[in-house]
Amino acid sequence: MTDDSRAGAQGGAARFAGSVAIVTGGSRGIGRAVAESLLRRGADVLISGRSAGSLAEAASELGEVAATAGAGRLATVAADVRRPADAERLVGAANERFGGVDILINNAGVGHFEAVAEQSTADWAQVIETNLGGVFYCCRAAIPVLRRRGGGWIINISSLAGSHPFANGAAYCASKAGLDAFTAALMQEVRFDGIRVSAVAPGSVGTAFAGSDDRHAAAPWKLTAADVAQVVVDLLSHDARSLPSRVEIRPSQPRKG
Ligand SMILES: NC(=O)c1ccc[n+]([C@@H]2O[C@H](COP(=O)([O-])OP(=O)(O)OC[C@H]3O[C@@H](n4cnc5c(N)ncnc54)[C@H](OP(=O)(O)O)[C@@H]3O)[C@@H](O)[C@H]2O)c1
Repeated sequence: MTDDSRAGAQGGAARFAGSVAIVTGGSRGIGRAVAESLLRRGADVLISGRSAGSLAEAASELGEVAATAGAGRLATVAADVRRPADAERLVGAANERFGGVDILINNAGVGHFEAVAEQSTADWAQVIETNLGGVFYCCRAAIPVLRRRGGGWIINISSLAGSHPFANGAAYCASKAGLDAFTAALMQEVRFDGIRVSAVAPGSVGTAFAGSDDRHAAAPWKLTAADVAQVVVDLLSHDARSLPSRVEIRPSQPRKG
């Protein structure tokens, strides 16, 4: 951070003007809501995902937000966080398009929910490599750029599943527990470079995560993606002296039983 216009400064609607954010998995769900919130507050935002089709759809909706007064610019990059070269390309694209990176939101994630005895090697690997390996690759690629900028933020979208494991969720719960430990370790590693690292751990959010159909995704008791985006914006608004290093957010009245 070199001036007050970058992430962390307090301010009005355009409080993140001049900041550059990468949101992995920004084409749908929580990532898309985070991207929208940051764009509306003036940040330039680069979203990623594997599917070019989903990115194009998101770009058309978020493009309308980016066209409003005071909003930041939007870019999309098709990239798979499981590939180290894609993570480097993502950060390179933010440098090229927007001149750097101030905020990295590691949001891309997948879930496969089966009993361990029945889980395929491919499903296990996809969950661990996306939810944990992907965050490592993106952090490793972004940290030198954040350091050059004088600091910034890394926010990892974890899950309450990391601290509240459940049957048929071993891969997912382990990936998020690993992510929680990774986040806490990284936080201590880069804090004196002005890089703040935090985990946001939501409970059930009404998205199409892990193939939830619309009926199950949109239950009224669930959090919305916008609720999680609000937590991200609140974190980024803290004074540079303050680091809420983990935030849990859960439905206030979850389904009983
Ligand atoms: N929904 C919940 O109840 C809930 C609760 C707690 C935590 N979370 C966490 O919140 C995050 C977002 O979940 P969501 O509910 O918004 O899910 P979602 O609607 O399924 O969106 C997931 C996003 O991640 C992208 N993605 C998946 N694999 C990727 C990869 N290998 N490389 C790059 N992008 C990839 C997807 O795009 P492509 O498919 O095109 O790649 C999509 O943009 C995840 O980390 C999830 O674990 C969700």
